[in-house]
Amino acid sequence: MRALIYESSDPFRFLPEGDRVNAVNHSFMRRFTFMLCVLLWASPLLVQAEPLLEKNQHTAIRAEKAMVTSGEPLATHVGTTILNQGGNAVDASTAVALALAVTLPRAGNLGGGGFCLVLDREGEVHALDFRETAPQALHREFYLDEKHSSRQGASAAGVPGTVAGLWAMHRKFGVLPWKQVVEPAERLAREGFPASGWLNDGVTSSEELLSAYPATKAIFLPGDKPPTVGKLFIQKDLGRTLKRLAEKGPDDFYRGRTAQLLVDGIQEAGGVMTAEDLNGYEAAWRKPVKGDFRGYTVWSMPPPSSGGIHLLQMLELTESLDTEPALLNSAAHLHRLAEAMRLAYCDRARYLGDPDFVDVPTERLLSPEYLQEREALIPETKAGDSEELAPDLFQSPAPESPDTTHFNVVDADGMAVSFTYTLNFSYGSGFMAPGTGFLMNNEMDDFNAKPGLPNAYGLIGSAANDVEPGKRPLSSMTPTLITKDKRFYAALGAPGGSRIINGVFQATYNLLGYGLNAQTAVTMPRIHHQWYPDQIRYEFGVSSDTIEILEARGHECEPIYAVAHVLAIVRDPDGHLEAGLDPRRPAYAEGY
Ligand code: DON
Repeated sequence: MRALIYESSDPFRFLPEGDRVNAVNHSFMRRFTFMLCVLLWASPLLVQAEPLLEKNQHTAIRAEKAMVTSGEPLATHVGTTILNQGGNAVDASTAVALALAVTLPRAGNLGGGGFCLVLDREGEVHALDFRETAPQALHREFYLDEKHSSRQGASAAGVPGTVAGLWAMHRKFGVLPWKQVVEPAERLAREGFPASGWLNDGVTSSEELLSAYPATKAIFLPGDKPPTVGKLFIQKDLGRTLKRLAEKGPDDFYRGRTAQLLVDGIQEAGGVMTAEDLNGYEAAWRKPVKGDFRGYTVWSMPPPSSGGIHLLQMLELTESLDTEPALLNSAAHLHRLAEAMRLAYCDRARYLGDPDFVDVPTERLLSPEYLQEREALIPETKAGDSEELAPDLFQSPAPESPDTTHFNVVDADGMAVSFTYTLNFSYGSGFMAPGTGFLMNNEMDDFNAKPGLPNAYGLIGSAANDVEPGKRPLSSMTPTLITKDKRFYAALGAPGGSRIINGVFQATYNLLGYGLNAQTAVTMPRIHHQWYPDQIRYEFGVSSDTIEILEARGHECEPIYAVAHVLAIVRDPDGHLEAGLDPRRPAYAEGY
């Protein structure tokens, strides 16, 4: 058992290709004979099989009643502090999100947007969309003009949604006063916190971007140096913005002093966002998408995120796979996962966009009939062909370039929040309006900023994702909740650009398919295929002989450092909460 759980190698790699096919097909006789032999040989061990399997998984951090997992320790602690003060999962989430805007400025934000799911006490799941919108002055040709960049500076930013989202969530579900949940972040900004190595590293590697804008540089690179590890990192302007937010609510941000500073700064820097754009921003409650997988209900984010639809499609396209531990990360399985990814991301490119602007055929894309038709396109042993699947959308290869952060909160009453938000790139557009203390997003690059050309994540879209005034760009963020009999089972999500969906997919599959615990489920090596470019990206830990088999089947395979960074909380069989902390990036859990 030990080797099978941890080794991601192909269990059939010693067989000739033809035999592998049979082995993978599990013809009844082969399986029957194989099982009989195993049974005779292993019968004395059988009573021990279950505990052995359990022992060979990573030890997960556990809590009895409530838990927070996030990408930063101080924000995680803010979450449990609010829970201890009598707050529910939503109060804690509001406080964590605001704290991350201070302590993890590469991704945590006031100047960006995102999505979250809330599981209420009655077992209903609610989806909140606070994705940025395109300012009214934007149009399809806007970024064709050399003067406007969709990646850097004031013109790359969409109207920020985070503050409106946090307010909407607080108004619907919060039990503590707004001021109380904003206060920890305000204090962290005003009094400062010891700069971490992670903050120092992030600023160092984005030095060029952060030096380009005076207000940004003054905060992140005072005296031309990144924050010194261990020294207090104080953000006075951000503290003042948060104080106004605590006292006046979102009115200050969208219509008051902060709005004024934002618009003045953006326009001065050549951006086009106006006071009307800010005043007009609204977060939207949407109907979550859901699907059944192996007896669990998986809930996720509907458009304008593509995450939920494609997560559910891929689960459905692979539900029939045999998930005995020996097959985990075998070439046979990775082939099927990659083909499911190819089909899902192809649909992403063709159909997905902002549902307030385009008709997204969500029901059809998730219908059993459609998914059966699509599954029939998966070749048994050889790689599919992305160009053949959608020749009209397929382009010649173009370069792919490079933060987002996710957190989960579960309270003692089983209320849960799965929350992902972002500035897009690390430190977003790099632009900060003087006096605000927070960075603005570069989310406009998630549109087809230049029609027909891939965005920074190599993603191509159809006209459904072209820039239009007031529109939300398509996203891959995939905050997800899993319930069983209307009760909390898991919360998970990830940063990682276009790889988010596949990261969440494989972690979900590991949990529900293979029955791995939370820590093992997020740790196992992952692959990524996004239809275009037509290649499998694989992490360290997928064995080289597995890759050889995949290549022999016609898959182009390229190594990659990480397929997303998944954070999870999962209820274990004893009813305790387990943390799934992805080792690919800093990750923290606290609970009681
Ligand atoms: O919404 C999206 O899909 C992207 N803007 C997310 C970017 C991201 O995850 C970058 N992080 N690592």
